[in-house]
Amino acid sequence: VSRTHATIVDVARAARVSTATVSRALNGTGQVAPQTRRRVEAAVRELGYEPNRIARSLVMNTTHTIALLLPDISNPFFPDLVKGVQLLAEERRYALLLANTGADPGKEREYLRTLRGKLVDGIILVGLALSGSDIAEALGPGVPVVALDRSIDVPDASLVQVDHRGGARRATSHLLELGHRLVAHVTGPRHLRLTAERVAGYREALADAGAPVEAGLVVPADFTEDGGYAAIDGLLGRGARFTAVFAANDLSAIGTMAALKRLGLRVPEDVSVVGFDDIHLSAYTSPPLTTMRQPTYEMGRRSAELLIGAIEAGSAAAGETITFDAELVVRGSTSPPPGAGAGGLS
Ligand code: RIB
Repeated sequence: VSRTHATIVDVARAARVSTATVSRALNGTGQVAPQTRRRVEAAVRELGYEPNRIARSLVMNTTHTIALLLPDISNPFFPDLVKGVQLLAEERRYALLLANTGADPGKEREYLRTLRGKLVDGIILVGLALSGSDIAEALGPGVPVVALDRSIDVPDASLVQVDHRGGARRATSHLLELGHRLVAHVTGPRHLRLTAERVAGYREALADAGAPVEAGLVVPADFTEDGGYAAIDGLLGRGARFTAVFAANDLSAIGTMAALKRLGLRVPEDVSVVGFDDIHLSAYTSPPLTTMRQPTYEMGRRSAELLIGAIEAGSAAAGETITFDAELVVRGSTSPPPGAGAGGLS
């Protein structure tokens, strides 16, 4: 069945005006006599005419669409981020295209090219595995971008993020204030700048408290449950001694708690655990997870505001960095260290 849509020519003929007059009447641009406008609107209704969006985009040089590229849609940290972007975009009457790249450079390059071809008005990027020149080549000139949560290697791109370093410092100092001295850190993925920032915050808190900063207690992981589990399994397997763990995100904190329990250690009685993100699940783990809450929805919303502001100002979203504070949420996975000799690894 062929899809026969009325065209602007059909409307013009039915209303006995030129196609230019139909455009002016429909786009509200230029002068159109009231009775002419009424004839055009009647013809549109009778013919069921719908302006061709692609043609309109080419004429108006805007699609009223923004895109959001995510590295790992399976991580429950991201849905609230997307919700913040989406609701602001809807309020400003922009459509949102969402793409999950798996932090794969080839996929990132492919999506950026596709989005450029679809003439999206701007792109929000949650980090990129691609490096600066590759990003510029894939993005092409003139597309406003805003980095959200994870920085990108593009000069003077704007960034909306949480204070990764300050949040990590607060998480670690919570453990030190409880009396812990031997605190392990399960890190995020090594290629992310925020991983280094969270390690730095962890180390600063230890140094400020005069607690030992042992390289052997910093274990590389990857923001996943399995990564957290393997990190703790390895630490205990090497006989490392610690009474607390700061995990760089909630999923690896959940894997950390599973490994501790599997190896016969109680949380928090023997080992305290703090995470980072405050995903919804963290209030329901056993015990409920103490963590650093990221204002995820608000950050998503703010990044969309920044991007759409730049689009409508006809400018690049130039080098603003907006940093939100993370907030300590104390639950059941942290307590003072075990008494001397009563369990734990002190
Ligand atoms: O849990 C996912 C992590 O990656 C979060 O800490 C967030 O900051 C994102 O970058």
